[in-house]
Amino acid sequence: METKNIGLRGIEVADTKVSNIDGEKGKLIYRGYDILDLTKNSTFEETSYLLLHDDLPTKAQLDEFRSKLKEARFIPKQMQINMGNWRKDADPMDMLQAFVSALAGYYDEEFSSKESSYDRAINLISKTATIIASWYRIRNDLPIIDPDPSLDHAANFIYMMFGEKPDPKIEKTFDTCLILHAEHTFNASTFIARQVASTRAHMYSAASAAIGALSGELHGGANYEVMRMLLDIEDINNVESWITQRMDKGEKIMGMGHAVYKTYDPRAQVLKELSRTVAEKTGDPWYKITEKVEKTTIEEMKKRKGMDIYPNVDLYSASLYYMLKFPMDLNTPIFALSRVVGWAAHIIEEKFAEAAPKTALYRPKAVYVGKYCGPEGCEYKTLDLRK
Ligand SMILES: CC(C)(COP(=O)(O)OP(=O)(O)OC[C@H]1O[C@@H](n2cnc3c(N)ncnc32)[C@H](O)[C@@H]1OP(=O)(O)O)[C@@H](O)C(=O)NCCC(=O)NCCS
Repeated sequence: METKNIGLRGIEVADTKVSNIDGEKGKLIYRGYDILDLTKNSTFEETSYLLLHDDLPTKAQLDEFRSKLKEARFIPKQMQINMGNWRKDADPMDMLQAFVSALAGYYDEEFSSKESSYDRAINLISKTATIIASWYRIRNDLPIIDPDPSLDHAANFIYMMFGEKPDPKIEKTFDTCLILHAEHTFNASTFIARQVASTRAHMYSAASAAIGALSGELHGGANYEVMRMLLDIEDINNVESWITQRMDKGEKIMGMGHAVYKTYDPRAQVLKELSRTVAEKTGDPWYKITEKVEKTTIEEMKKRKGMDIYPNVDLYSASLYYMLKFPMDLNTPIFALSRVVGWAAHIIEEKFAEAAPKTALYRPKAVYVGKYCGPEGCEYKTLDLRK
């Protein structure tokens, strides 16, 4: 009998120049550059340029890219009016998916050349931030705050949310989070984006499908679930019993484990340090509780299954965003705010692959295990003959 590959693990489906993960060594590379180097030296804007293009920008290229991102920030007023018709408690990921898709209804943009696709990518990156912040303001009955062209992407998002320009240390912390989440090879949402692009659907359509994939708790939605877990644990003394009870029921601990990394996720390392630094300043208990969740889960996995497990990107980002005062249900939209860059880079690569083998419409094979009545199919019985 043919063996199926559950979840397409390890199957090579396309070439990419966008990024690479070494799961054994815990390395993540964006277009040849180590993510740890980028978090130290780069910015979200520069890293976005790098991911979309083939290399780091020159000063002139970066200046142009930054000003295009700033120009693209506004979304149509009509869109914000339409957002006001949604339930105030609607899931922000559902709202984001719908309104990213709706961008196609407001802009008649070309997507037929690689060059025009870059402009669309810029639109997508900038407007995603404005959509998330607008929804936050609308659902809380607060006036919408227009983007501020004096601010870079990270600071502008915080400003559009809360109406205050962030302190430079907070801006740097958030900018680093955006760099860390921007790209991660063929994760579920990026693969979906490429799959949709492979049908020759346009960028907003592919990105909105990716947002749907990101919302699930086994993917980006884990950072929301991690925060729910921490609030439920409440006190560091409850961590061990909480974790063991969960594991006794066969449930997974969110923010732990990864399909590719067999060692510490390099993003989690950076986020852990950022979370520690912020917690020291704010006095919040969440860093220490998260650290104990990590330690307890590692010990329990070893004891129960003889397996190693490590934190993933969602474990420490959850409490970090909480300490930065973002409402917890925006954890996953904030992931999308950054990952949209990786999606756009992959959509462009999928659509305009120059090197052979060129990509094609994805069409895996299914193994049919359903009803079988012989080669002619089953006899159709009218309703009165069915028991
Ligand atoms: C991310 C994830 C789906 C990767 O899964 P994977 O490498 O395919 O590993 P599997 O789901 O096959 O799990 C392998 C074993 O480890 C266990 N395991 C994996 N992650 C676990 C977790 N977070 N908590 C408890 N057990 C876990 C599984 O139950 C499984 O045990 P089994 O072999 O006895 O069935 C998985 O680790 C997970 O669900 N994590 C929690 C969700 C999360 O944080 N997602 C964000 C990912 S960035």
